[in-house]
Amino acid sequence: MDCIDEYLLPVDPEVAAAIRDEERRQREKLELIASENYASRAVLAAQGSVMTNKYAEGYPGRRYYGGCEHVDVVEELAIERARKLFGAEHVNVQPHSGTQANTAVYFAVLKPGERILGMGLETGGHLTHGSRVNISGRYYESYLYGVNQKGFLDYEEIRKRALEVRPRMIVAGASAYPRRIDFEAFAAIARECGSYLLVDMAHIAGLVATGLHPSPIPYADFTTTTTHKTLRGPRGGLIFCRKSFAEKIDKAVFPGIQGGPLMHVIAAKAVCLKEAGSEDFRSYQRQVVQNASRLGEVLKEYGFSLVSGGTDNHLLLVDLRSKDVTGSEAELMLDQVGITVNKNMVPGDALGPQVTSGIRIGTPAVTTRGMKEREMEQIGRAIHCVLSFRGDAARIEEARRIVARLCREFPIYAS
Ligand SMILES: Cc1ncc(COP(=O)(O)O)c(C=O)c1O
Repeated sequence: MDCIDEYLLPVDPEVAAAIRDEERRQREKLELIASENYASRAVLAAQGSVMTNKYAEGYPGRRYYGGCEHVDVVEELAIERARKLFGAEHVNVQPHSGTQANTAVYFAVLKPGERILGMGLETGGHLTHGSRVNISGRYYESYLYGVNQKGFLDYEEIRKRALEVRPRMIVAGASAYPRRIDFEAFAAIARECGSYLLVDMAHIAGLVATGLHPSPIPYADFTTTTTHKTLRGPRGGLIFCRKSFAEKIDKAVFPGIQGGPLMHVIAAKAVCLKEAGSEDFRSYQRQVVQNASRLGEVLKEYGFSLVSGGTDNHLLLVDLRSKDVTGSEAELMLDQVGITVNKNMVPGDALGPQVTSGIRIGTPAVTTRGMKEREMEQIGRAIHCVLSFRGDAARIEEARRIVARLCREFPIYAS
């Protein structure tokens, strides 16, 4: 019996049932959404702890509430571990999410109406990088850059755009970019334009922590991340900066845009940051990258076209135009055999964000389950069965069998 059966079920059977259903969904489906992962039991234990009960507005040693001596311990651990892991001068571990982290950076150093230049949502950027529907595109005058026809960032084009726009802040980083990002090049552009540089490394933080992607920390004025993607922790955000910006950033998070920090989540962030410093985590990240690369090769062998021709990181962007299937159709068809992906626009996409011509595929979650290159070959085969032979019952059945077997052989929480 676990705590759901023991404590939740008698009080709230409806919520308990939804949690059980979600457990089953995670267990019985292959999670290929690039931004998702499975946090360890240790992370879940910290997050489900009594630290949820504590108010702790302020920062360790300077709180607005009494009784903070134990939550101070976890926040200091989280700060120290994050600083050491990423080699940063200052870190704020309180942002409730990646969106809060980015919003706090803008709030810290920009006045409403000042210009930002970020990567467009359609070409792989995030909503918080200047999209009109987000505060970043409403309160600031936002301009966007994209990728070239082959799907690569073109630094000379970005430089020209930046010199034209003269933004107060340039935002680098992406939600759907399969290639290495040259943060040094971004820093040179920012310097030339007299702009701040914000790097949002949410997707690649686990790779950066383990040296598999160059770190933005030495180049950026501000670096933000989520803690729940490749970093494999609880849902949340972090902000890194130099000491000279520490006070501005801390004030922007609290009292600027947040109230009481989520101390249970900060405890879980501390655990995840400890795990991320381990040798196991390093080999896990290596496998994430090898798996993405192998899955990409297999899909290409099956005639799929990859934006940029491949990947350097944990994700692939598959252009489905040659398969005569849209991204939204593919998402649905794959879900029916137990493979979860998300539709995604590709360069030159005529279909718009609701339909799209592509899907984004990531390997962090399946790699946490222990899958390696051999299993990527089978996942590639399952995707091929579903998308290359629309509606072929025998192939759909083959894909279902592959998914069921992999989920059985690679349990999420093995013990
Ligand atoms: C690059 C990037 N930044 C920020 C975020 C936002 O994170 P959150 O959902 O925690 O607000 C995401 C989420 O997908 C992301 O991909």
